[in-house]
Amino acid sequence: MEKFLEKLSKEVAEAFKKAGYDENLGKVGISNRPDLCEYQCNGAMSGAKIYKKAPIMIANEVGELLKDSASFSKVEVCPPGFINLNVSDAFLTDYICEVALDKKFGVDVADDSNKKRYIIDYGGPNVAKPLHVGHLRSAVIGESIKRIIRYMGHEAIGDIHLGDWGLQMGLVIAAFKESHPDLVYFDDTFTGEYPKEAPFTVSDLEEIYPKASARSKEDEAFKDEAMACTKKLQDGVRGYRALWHHIIDVSVTDLKRNYDNLNVEFDLWKGESDVHDVIPGMVEEMKAGGFAHISEGALVVDVAREDDTKEIPPCMILKSDGASLYNTTDLATIKVRVKDYNPDAIIYLTDKRQELYFEQVFRCARKTGLVSDNVTLTHIGFGTVNGKDGKPFKTRDGGVMRLEYLIKDINDKMYEKILSGREVSEEEAKEISSTVALSAIKYGDLSNQAGKDYIFDTERFMSFEGDTGPYLLYTMVRIKSILRKFAEAGGDIDSCKIMSTKENESKKNLLRKLATYNEMMEGAFAELAPHKICAYLYETANLFNSFYHETKILSEEDEELKKTYIAILKLTLSICEDCISCLGFEAPDKM
Ligand code: ARG
Repeated sequence: MEKFLEKLSKEVAEAFKKAGYDENLGKVGISNRPDLCEYQCNGAMSGAKIYKKAPIMIANEVGELLKDSASFSKVEVCPPGFINLNVSDAFLTDYICEVALDKKFGVDVADDSNKKRYIIDYGGPNVAKPLHVGHLRSAVIGESIKRIIRYMGHEAIGDIHLGDWGLQMGLVIAAFKESHPDLVYFDDTFTGEYPKEAPFTVSDLEEIYPKASARSKEDEAFKDEAMACTKKLQDGVRGYRALWHHIIDVSVTDLKRNYDNLNVEFDLWKGESDVHDVIPGMVEEMKAGGFAHISEGALVVDVAREDDTKEIPPCMILKSDGASLYNTTDLATIKVRVKDYNPDAIIYLTDKRQELYFEQVFRCARKTGLVSDNVTLTHIGFGTVNGKDGKPFKTRDGGVMRLEYLIKDINDKMYEKILSGREVSEEEAKEISSTVALSAIKYGDLSNQAGKDYIFDTERFMSFEGDTGPYLLYTMVRIKSILRKFAEAGGDIDSCKIMSTKENESKKNLLRKLATYNEMMEGAFAELAPHKICAYLYETANLFNSFYHETKILSEEDEELKKTYIAILKLTLSICEDCISCLGFEAPDKM
């Protein structure tokens, strides 16, 4: 659908043309002096240079032609040559009615002819290690990007990309072998079937891994044993594989529960292990193609370019001992993704400290022909979650904050908040608070530009006022409640239509915001930037609340006017619902 500003621009361009000037001068933007006007066109200033004429003269001529236009309620020319405009209620209403009738409120979505397939790699948890606060960002931002892409009519496949293969697995196995040497998994002569039941729980694993990891840094012999176990696992020794499967199963069950709590859902639960068998062939191809060469014992691919402004080191494919690395797995994963899914784009979400790493991997993938130029590779690097002291978020005793505890803490606090001062049952309070708590966490994260660090401020995120998730939900619940009352009194919401009314500033400001939803959403998609949706939602909620405070809605005596208001409420709610759904949370019916 044509965007609102484009429509306004068209009108003004027509006037420029009629007055004998280039129509491209008629571009209209949102006013940067909202105290003076709603929109402005600065084309006369650029025109002055082309036509060697005072800008005010051009502006006056164009302004004169616009004065009779039904599209504008005010046309004012200001020195040195600004054309200040207010849109007419009729023109705005026409546009808004078109928006309200459109399934996606005027957003141009892909159809079969231009639909693309995206793979989004946004999990990255390591098996046997609990999720910590750092995993929050990739999950929350990635989920939102996936939903935005789908909203735009494209296909999005979310892959968790588990860290399930390297030394971390060997560490767990080595530690377990030491404490349970008699288990059948370590008996080389055993040929029967291994037990179905895992010999440990997720809590055991969470204890084993950090201990083993710390020990390997001091105890050489233990580290060697862990490396030997890793090798045996990767070489396919039966008992080690069986034990590894148990680790994965136990871990994945726990991970699923955690991601479920965040309303984050992966389509693929693939991991680094899945590409293990692809690596040797890939390495051979890189050698045969003349791309990989030995440098200081290691196999590398040069990825620096002449026009680089900073140094880009070679991409290492195999260590000098022949072992593969993090890079190797990511490259092999690209190869497999291209073959299995034929994607148009792959998007990665990780900490921004991996920026250079992904630059190397992407260049290497292109250079070695793993991926064609038609496939876009994007890395979205996000900043750190900090505590109030501005340092990386930690528990009170300085440990890494487990995601589970963080979520539980906010859930508990929100539960208290919802239960106190409201007439809700404990059961209801539980449901409402988990919905609202999730909005607090997700909005708190997503409202920041991904690349920036932010401070995880529980109190602020949970507040029902200000730029927060709960404030938005509160606003939406307010709308829902009015609509419910209208329906309960016998009103038919769906038959209400927005009609042009006499000037009402707060209503107009809200409608003008709703008229730019489509443009905003297309921009958020183009830039893969959920924070744009957050900013839009916050402005919309503020405008709605101003309108609400200044307007009688249900008590409005003029029935036609009341219906217009109800239709505006419904549209506002629907747009907000689409926005929060793209952000990955929902609104309760009451709170
Ligand atoms: N498992 C990795 C880690 O904990 C993160 C993986 C990120 N994704 C990727 N495709 N490299 O550091």
